[in-house]
Amino acid sequence: MRQTKLVVIGVGHVGSQVLTDCSHLNLFSDIALIDVQQNVAKGEALDHRHALAASYRTNSKIYAGDYADCADADVIIISAGVSEKPRPGEDMPPRALMGKENAAEIRKVMHGITQHTKDAVLILITNPVDTITYIAENEFHYPKGKIFGTGTTLDTFRYRQIVAGHYGVDPKEVSGFIVGEHGSTAFPAFSSTTVGGLTLPQCEELLPQAEPFDAAFVQQEVVHTASDVFNWKGWTNSGIGEVAAALARAVMLNEKSIFPVTATVDGLYNCNGEAAFSMPCIIGRNGLEKQIELPLNAEEYEKLQLSIKDIQNTLQY
Ligand code: LAC
Repeated sequence: MRQTKLVVIGVGHVGSQVLTDCSHLNLFSDIALIDVQQNVAKGEALDHRHALAASYRTNSKIYAGDYADCADADVIIISAGVSEKPRPGEDMPPRALMGKENAAEIRKVMHGITQHTKDAVLILITNPVDTITYIAENEFHYPKGKIFGTGTTLDTFRYRQIVAGHYGVDPKEVSGFIVGEHGSTAFPAFSSTTVGGLTLPQCEELLPQAEPFDAAFVQQEVVHTASDVFNWKGWTNSGIGEVAAALARAVMLNEKSIFPVTATVDGLYNCNGEAAFSMPCIIGRNGLEKQIELPLNAEEYEKLQLSIKDIQNTLQY
């Protein structure tokens, strides 16, 4: 059987969870871990080998590696960088605060990767993910589509869960996307959201609830719910781990799944390469195979312009 290889760069709370979720996919014969703290990479690899021995899953080789491991990687997931700590009484700090340090870190990581490959599909998680993706994609001339960030994929699953909770249905029955920045200006495209094929106005008629659907509250809650996890637990990792694994699976199995990932936008929504942001995208063996210019109503279009401006404000690093 051909070797299938994943490299995870940065194995803190997020990278460790990515490793767990990706090893559960049973799609990789080799998983190499890279971290500035070599011992952390070695410890995670060893811990996960113990987990594999106990799990009767695919006997993947999991080991601490280095950038040379990227040469024959199929997928590289990057969660390197600093994260913020919760501050009592305050909301989650804006992801943009990590921009300066993480931009410097990502340049080092991209330098390491591009010494060895421009063939692997790169999935970036490091925040602020739109800015980080823009830097990694454009400064290192990584082939278009082979690099993208998780973007608003997690926000989208949070949104679907909130909508599903309101109507008392399974989140899988909700189709709809969060568009724009992975941050405070992210917004739901309500006009194209459906629940079991019903538009939101149709849901109000056919699935009436005690309280009407409160769009403003839902938009706030999508962003705010990340803060709750962060403030209570100290970090977020379970949601984003599953997201990264779902994206890796879509690539490895050429699923052509649609996820709202972030990448530089050139020629859609009047944007000509000046920012990376999220919209629904087809993900397959070649990575991001198509960005879909989801139709937005006038109000949503306005929100997108604000979101793009916000992202551009963090692009000075
Ligand atoms: C979150 C991190 C990934 O939203 O930014 O959980």
